[in-house]
Amino acid sequence: MKNRMVFLIAGILVFSSFVNADQNKGPETIVLDGGSKGKIALPHLTHQNMLKDCNACHSTFPQKTGSIQALKAEGKLENKFVMNNLCIACHRAEKKAGKPSGPISCSGCHGN
Ligand code: HEC
Ligand code: HEC
Ligand code: HEC
Repeated sequence: MKNRMVFLIAGILVFSSFVNADQNKGPETIVLDGGSKGKIALPHLTHQNMLKDCNACHSTFPQKTGSIQALKAEGKLENKFVMNNLCIACHRAEKKAGKPSGPISCSGCHGN
């Protein structure tokens, strides 16, 4: 009985790792619309590998290209909300904690 339980759990683990491998992770780099300040190249894959948790960003907008702009256009997301509350907030916190961090200055993100 105990063995069957172990096999069952092992099976579930193997299965869920296949499911993860099939997950659409999107492109390696995503170019975002930065309005008058110019486009932003987001190293998407780097963030996925680093943060592990997709919801660090995708609890705010869905896993779909153009979703930030769409939500902004519908008035469901404030302009610069993602920039200030996700991107810059996290980079600042990481920097403050003395860890490797992303850009905080405008030109570090915009126009690259
Ligand atoms: C650092 C923030 C961040 C994290 C973490 C993140 N994403 Fe994204 N993701 C984005 C942004 C930004 C977009 C583009 C949204 C837009 O264009 O408005 C996006 C778009 C996508 C897309 C759509 C790509 C396409 O070509 O249509 C998929 C799929 C996706 N993400 C999957 C994931 C998965 C799976 C994870 C976790 C393993 C993840 N993302 C983690 C920020 C993130
Ligand atoms: C860590 C990356 C990052 C940094 C640093 C950054 N931005 Fe952004 N910015 C973004 C992203 C992502 C968007 C698009 C999503 C949004 O509107 O939140 C954006 C959007 C914008 C927009 C367009 C808003 C609109 O009306 O549609 C402006 C203007 C802007 N940023 C100005 C700035 C200025 C000025 C600075 C420096 C003080 C700055 N940004 C620093 C990532 C960044
Ligand atoms: C929850 C934390 C977190 C969020 C949210 C986040 N980042 Fe980052 N980002 C990081 C960390 C940590 C690094 C440093 C990676 C390293 O150097 O190892 C980084 C690095 C970067 C870099 C530099 C990559 C390089 O190759 O030097 C860019 C550009 C960047 N982030 C843009 C963004 C943008 C745009 C957003 C919002 C759409 C965003 N980040 C959201 C944590 C975050």
